[in-house]
Amino acid sequence: MRVLVTGGAGFIGSQFVRRLALQGERVVVLDKLTYAGNRANLEGVDHEFFEGDIADPAAVAQAADGVDAIVNFAAETHVDRSIMGPAEFILTDVLGTQVLLDHARHHGIRHLQVSTDEVYGDIDLDAAPCTEDAPLRPSSPYSASKSGGDQQVLAYVRTYGTDALITRGANTYGPRQYPEKFLPLFITNAFDGERLPVYGDGRQRREWLHVEDHCAAIEVALRNGGTGEVYNVGGQERENMDVVRRILDLTGASPDLVRHVADRPGHDRRYSVDSTKLRDLGWTPGRSFDTGGLEETVEWYREHREWWEPIKSGDYKRYYAQQYAARLG
Ligand code: NAD
Ligand code: TYD
Repeated sequence: MRVLVTGGAGFIGSQFVRRLALQGERVVVLDKLTYAGNRANLEGVDHEFFEGDIADPAAVAQAADGVDAIVNFAAETHVDRSIMGPAEFILTDVLGTQVLLDHARHHGIRHLQVSTDEVYGDIDLDAAPCTEDAPLRPSSPYSASKSGGDQQVLAYVRTYGTDALITRGANTYGPRQYPEKFLPLFITNAFDGERLPVYGDGRQRREWLHVEDHCAAIEVALRNGGTGEVYNVGGQERENMDVVRRILDLTGASPDLVRHVADRPGHDRRYSVDSTKLRDLGWTPGRSFDTGGLEETVEWYREHREWWEPIKSGDYKRYYAQQYAARLG
């Protein structure tokens, strides 16, 4: 199989490229190399690389030439950046998805859309996990743009009969995650003795999914999933403050670094999804957050300063000041 992986230089996409390449599949990557894209993530991985924008039909036509399937990871992905400026999110997550779908439609190939559990919006503490038919109630410009991408996928299936499907993954963690997201931000700040900015009361709950389990799930859906189907990919649900305490334990950092800061506007309290449908299709997650998963991840960041130190300079510092300077005082 020859597969186009868009966003293949990012956190989850690069792990998926590594996974397919190790199986001997031919992988083509199309990536715009935004601030989150990093060629180093693909070092030593057999693939063909095109730098370009998924919203550019010419770039897509060139990279997708002769592929059997498209797996779309390319997206603007950070909720806080979407609150600072939503426009880029619409262009990539909605328009870019539509451009890829057009290619899949005209060439009769499969399009797998990598989406998120955030499209369901937050749910009450006592609510049952969302199944795939739950209504979409996105809260942030990020999740609204991902919902727009999902709706395009479903519209292409229904209107044109395009062979497309969707996975909706939970909060993903592991090596090579850009240190703007909660886990790599807190782990690397803890190593550096920097403050740990907890939004609001820290009682929000997320499901944590190891990046390898997430990639395994996407592969199962790509190979065995049905056209027009949606598959949730859940993880282990934990309260943010419990995760912070575990990070302090594992890094040996002082609890004095923790600061409760002004909350994120519109902050979702809880995500939880039911992954029975994907398990029935053959997905078996192998990592546990508490026994091994988080610890290995902390160790990876401890041992790979050469990966994250260059990232946490330059533009990152400007972003960090904009997002946290007033909050941290
Ligand atoms: P990331 O931010 O680490 O990487 C995104 C990649 O997409 C980068 O390499 C970037 O350069 C590329 N990109 C951005 N805009 C592009 C464009 N217009 N054209 C081509 N390439 C472009 O993201 P990630 O965390 O690896 O997430 C990958 C996908 O998984 C996203 O679609 C995201 O919505 C979804 N997802 C992420 C999580 C999570 O916890 N990280 C959870 C569920 C779903
Ligand atoms: P994040 O990694 O941004 O993912 P999500 O898309 O789920 O918002 O954040 C995960 C959780 O951590 C979320 O409840 C927000 C919280 N958080 C903080 O408390 N402080 C921070 O600096 C960040 C980035 C996130």
